[in-house]
Amino acid sequence: MAEQPVIQTRQLTKSYGRHRGIEDVTFDVTRGEVFGFLGPNGAGKTTTIRLLMDLIRPTAGAAWIFGLDVRAQGLEVRRRVGYLPGELRLYEGMRSEDLLRYLGHLRGGVGWAEVKRLADRLGADLDRRIGELSSGNKQKVGLIQALMHRPDLLILDEPTAGLDPLIQHEIHALLSEAVADGRSVFLSSHILPEVEALCHRVGIIREGRLVAVEEIDALKARALRRLEIQFATAVPPAAFANLAGVQDVSTQDSVVRCTVVGSLDAVIKAAARFEVVNVVSHEPGLEEIFLAYYGGTDAP
Ligand SMILES: Nc1ncnc2c1ncn2[C@@H]1O[C@H](COP(=O)(O)OP(=O)(O)OP(=O)(O)O)[C@@H](O)[C@H]1O
Ligand SMILES: [Mg+2]
Repeated sequence: MAEQPVIQTRQLTKSYGRHRGIEDVTFDVTRGEVFGFLGPNGAGKTTTIRLLMDLIRPTAGAAWIFGLDVRAQGLEVRRRVGYLPGELRLYEGMRSEDLLRYLGHLRGGVGWAEVKRLADRLGADLDRRIGELSSGNKQKVGLIQALMHRPDLLILDEPTAGLDPLIQHEIHALLSEAVADGRSVFLSSHILPEVEALCHRVGIIREGRLVAVEEIDALKARALRRLEIQFATAVPPAAFANLAGVQDVSTQDSVVRCTVVGSLDAVIKAAARFEVVNVVSHEPGLEEIFLAYYGGTDAP
């Protein structure tokens, strides 16, 4: 028998009165997987996550976590899930340490050594009152409370939003360690390099509908990348004609610009025949990837 998915949704739908929330969202997340949830602002990522956490109720459809109905068995689900909300609200008047101890008690006791370890890794000062913390430092407290009971599943709504690159890196490391431990992660993000680095699969949600669920490698293979190569001297444009996956080649003096779909191998090998001064690669934004996928029209 196939292993029970850690998250399962079937036709999950939430309508906010006249306003669209999400519609017919169906996907599975398997154990040990990092599943990324991508989509433009207002696409429905937070709505989906709130439904999973039973903070709002679906208009139709259902969701299960570890095979447990998130509505009927919400308490049991929460015990095994670490959740970071997108719009974090913490008790501003409390010191971080007191808040984490309080939440730890609510969860039936949490090893303080683990809290200290996470705080050290993230550079969080637990002595300060939450209301006095910068938004990035509040986010760290939010992450610690999500991770501290070593839950089997992490559900994180934009975990690295507003954090500096060093801390983002540390969070990626913590999440990778959790996965190496056999735990699973569901995260929403707008940061494509983060999703590329961390996720095995992604779901793309647009206007409330899940338009694709893809392996990250398939997503990368279809991504468009702008490339600019500066040579020591002018190069013949013909050297970059008809290369696999290379489009829109323009040559201006000693600079060649092009768009590459998928692997950079062909263009790099073509460039290597001349003296290269610099290579600049522009990572495609989410929007470009969406356009590359769907040509700006409806999903296939
Ligand atoms: N409480 C609410 N009442 C009415 N409409 C809502 C409510 N919450 C969300 N919506 C609407 O549902 C849609 C999805 O919003 P949601 O917050 O899930 O998007 P998101 O993908 O998380 O976006 P972002 O990337 O900006 O965080 C939006 O059109 C939003 O306006
Ligand atoms: Mg959101």
